[in-house]
Order: sequence, then structure tokens, then C-alpha cells
Amino acid sequence: MNIESPGIPYNFSDLEPAMSRDTLVFHSLRHQRVCFDRTAALVRGTDLETLSLEELIRTTERNPAQHALYRYAAEVWNHNVFWRSMRPRGGGAPHGLVGEHLGARFGSHERFVREFKEAAGAHFGSGWLWLVWRRGALDIVTTVNAGTPLVRGDTALLALDLWEHAYYLDYQNRRGAYVSTFLEELVNWDFANRTLAELLANGETLAARPRAAAVPVTPARVRAS
Ligand SMILES: [Fe+2]
Repeated sequence: MNIESPGIPYNFSDLEPAMSRDTLVFHSLRHQRVCFDRTAALVRGTDLETLSLEELIRTTERNPAQHALYRYAAEVWNHNVFWRSMRPRGGGAPHGLVGEHLGARFGSHERFVREFKEAAGAHFGSGWLWLVWRRGALDIVTTVNAGTPLVRGDTALLALDLWEHAYYLDYQNRRGAYVSTFLEELVNWDFANRTLAELLANGETLAARPRAAAVPVTPARVRAS
């Protein structure tokens, strides 16, 4: 198989107290690992075995008969982005490229925080909350269950897992407290900046980018998929 075994890029206890060691252990070694193992079992011995994780997700999403495999593979990828969307002693207002574009899109960090929290609260059931680069600008989107922006042509800059297994041990049913802690103590803007810089360096045009002075502050377009 052409898919790397997943792992978190820090120690299990490094995000404490914002995210407990128990949460990361169960989340990484039970949930994501199970999805990886099932992906491996389903591609073994098939034509799909040589595909990268991204290619596998895009290929299986197009074929309803392969959607069980698509969901497992997408969950591996989604969690890979999620782990990197956090870091020890993270959180706060963004800087760099993302900070510049976030100001252009939302008007202020406070407005972004409000709309990010509103999107998390409005999402029903399991899924994901994303900050993505879409057609030359930042956007907030949600996906249902294992849904991923990868198959929509969006570039994921940040992922926040909205499945209860991501926060129930630490926050029980208080999803809002979990989202606030993510923004205030965990979010890794360096990761988002690196991803956006690579995208722009590889030819993503800024032509469609809204100019700060011309952008009205409007509610985020939150979509479910
Ligand atoms: Fe998860």
C-alpha cells in the first residue's frame, strides 16, 4: 500500500490541559488507526493499492460502490490534517499570509472567531469544520461524517473534528467550549500558513482574491456536504 501509517506530530500529553492525553490516545490509536487498518484491508490486492491517499479518496468518492472505502480513507486524511491543525501552546490570532487573507475575508479576527463558532454550533451530528482556500479566498465550511473538502477542489488549511469522540472525554457535550479552546490554545496557524504559501507558490492565482477595501463583512458561507 502506498499510504503512510498515520501518527500525531507531537507527544500524546503535549496538548494538555486543552486536550487530554486520554483523548489523543483513544482518538489516534482507536479511531484513526481503525480507519487506516480498514483502508489497508480493503485496498490490499486490488488495483487501488498503488494509489496515494489523496488519489484513493478522489477515486473511491466517484464510485458509490466504493464508498465504504472512501469513508475510511477520508477519515485517515481528515485526521492527518486535524493533528497538524493543532500544536502545543498554539491559539490566538493568525499571522502571516492567513492573517492577511482572514482580515480581508472576515474583516477582523473577532468576526472570524464568531463565525467559526457559529458554524460549529450549527452543524448537526458528526462531521468536520474547515478553514479552506476556495476560488481565491478563505472560507469556512463543514462536512458531514467523513466528508472531506479534498473532493471539492478546496484546499484545507485547518480542520476541526466535530465528532463527539474528539471532545467528549474532556468537555462532555460542551462542543462550544471545545471549539473555543481550539481557537484560543491549540490552533496552529503556522501549518495553515505553510499550506497556503505552498498553494500560492504552485500557481494558485490571486486574481479572484477580494481586495480588503472592497470586501463587505458578510456572514460566512457555511456549507454542509
Ligand atoms: Fe475523529
